[in-house]
Amino acid sequence: MKGLFITFEGLDGSGKTTQIKLLHDFLKKEGLDAVVTMEPGGTAVGEKIRDALLSRKYSGMDYKTEALLFLASRAELMSKVIMPALNSGSIVICDRFFDSTVVYQGIARKLGKEQILNMSLWACSNVVPDLTFLLSIKVDKSEERMKITNREKDRIEAEKDLFKEKICKGYLEIAEENKDRFIVLDGGKDIQSIFGEIKDNVERVLKEKRLI
Ligand code: TMP
Repeated sequence: MKGLFITFEGLDGSGKTTQIKLLHDFLKKEGLDAVVTMEPGGTAVGEKIRDALLSRKYSGMDYKTEALLFLASRAELMSKVIMPALNSGSIVICDRFFDSTVVYQGIARKLGKEQILNMSLWACSNVVPDLTFLLSIKVDKSEERMKITNREKDRIEAEKDLFKEKICKGYLEIAEENKDRFIVLDGGKDIQSIFGEIKDNVERVLKEKRLI
């Protein structure tokens, strides 16, 4: 892979969208080619899958069905967007990737961490991010921010606080196991100091990969 693959993870309301925008703007200013995409979604098929996954109409969806739909959306995004961009030397920034499935479905839904990781690797042709930023915030902070933005919760966001506690713990667990690519940031800090840490790490990895 010629490019650089960066992913952002964290609870809803952790500030991923804001930081992704800042990073994208910074890379563009530096004259670097960067593509921003998101999961689930990011392709025509993926957007249909996203609607099915997040609609509160399907509140009783089987957990295995849910996991397979996330993987299907990812397989499509990988072959249509991520792989071509990386092969052409671009920087790809993805809002969530397989770490979300490992944590939400593997750990919190108890489908099995290893099982979901193996299935995810198969679905995304074994492509692993070069750098993953985990914006870590407490459940009450996430809830508070969701209230401020007044956004209606999707089917998964509408889960109980206990589910979200499992997500927080699960993220820290996999970050500890994948220290080579995970950078854990305190999502409660102010926007610019979080971005400073993101920028420093991205510049470091770009230099390591001789992309700048
Ligand atoms: P989003 O709000 O960040 O777009 O993500 C939609 C929801 O889907 C969010 O609550 C997290 C959840 N999710 C999973 O449960 N598993 C996954 O693999 C992904 C990518 C997201």
